[in-house]
Amino acid sequence: MAENTLNEQKKIILSGIQPTGTITLGNYLGAVKNWQSMQSQFDSIFFIADLHALTVRREPAEFRQTALNFFAQFLACGLDPNQAIMYFQSHVHQHTELQWILNCNTYVGEASRMTQFKDKSAKHADNINMGLMDYPVLMAADILLFQSDLVPVGIDQKQHLELARDIAIRFNNRYGDTFKVPDGYIPKTGAKICSLQDPTAKMSKSDTDQNATVSIIDDEATIVRRFKRAVTDSGSEICVREDKPGITNLINIYSAIEGKPVEAVEKEFAGQGYGTFKIAVGEAVAAKFKPIREEYMRYMADKAYIAEVAADGAQKAAGLAERTLKKVKKKVGLVSF
Ligand code: TRP
Repeated sequence: MAENTLNEQKKIILSGIQPTGTITLGNYLGAVKNWQSMQSQFDSIFFIADLHALTVRREPAEFRQTALNFFAQFLACGLDPNQAIMYFQSHVHQHTELQWILNCNTYVGEASRMTQFKDKSAKHADNINMGLMDYPVLMAADILLFQSDLVPVGIDQKQHLELARDIAIRFNNRYGDTFKVPDGYIPKTGAKICSLQDPTAKMSKSDTDQNATVSIIDDEATIVRRFKRAVTDSGSEICVREDKPGITNLINIYSAIEGKPVEAVEKEFAGQGYGTFKIAVGEAVAAKFKPIREEYMRYMADKAYIAEVAADGAQKAAGLAERTLKKVKKKVGLVSF
């Protein structure tokens, strides 16, 4: 987007990702690859949700580097600053400003019922901070600030999206039409890529078992090795079946990476052993990620460029966000001259 305004004809899509670890195969197939293919069709806003990531204790220097790396990974995956607005959430103060006003229109009961809040509270029992409970309200602010039409999210964020819709509807009813009520967009393919070590669980970038994930910036040897070690199932047939979560996951990965339907993948590998199949999947993934890794290294060697793109993105985002925020402040009765 060259202008500081969005094209009024196109729908607005917005999504964010927390900068922890690196972008995994699961994030890539479930999110970033879809964003990349949507960016020409929509007015797109993609941001690094660094404030959300602070709900868990982080080592500051490492966190800063991880967030910077994420921005380079966005670029390496083909997110294009000429088409999409890309920035760090913390660089656009309107997010947290709107969050406060939304906080005053969200019930503690709603926030404390969120599944992720309950899960994270159990997991980080020594750090149940206010931010953990307020996390979905910040996410609602992210979304509503830009009058987003479509919000691509994983299935685990669906409840948060519904809360954002509830908050928008409540606010609109109370103060008059202010926010666009957004729709979720859960992509059909690649929405659930599972762990290579526990194929019943989602692949997570914060998994402590290195063998469970592959990253878009891993080298070929690492990727192939992880796939060789992937957990498979009993039997020997290569097909998608409920009692074969390991093989099903590998078929889904190969299908998404190669752009082939699942049935075609089953045919292609019919009669072959698990070992051969695992190597083939690993090699396909490695081949796909090789140019991404190379682009990533190129961007990481040019921090000035990253800084420039991020500053430009933040400036554009702030301009758009300010329009909504001004309207909101007026609606709730804050003084302005
Ligand atoms: N909570 C999302 C996640 O962890 C990231 C996120 C933050 C987000 N703000 C958002 C996603 C707004 C979509 C829209 O996946």
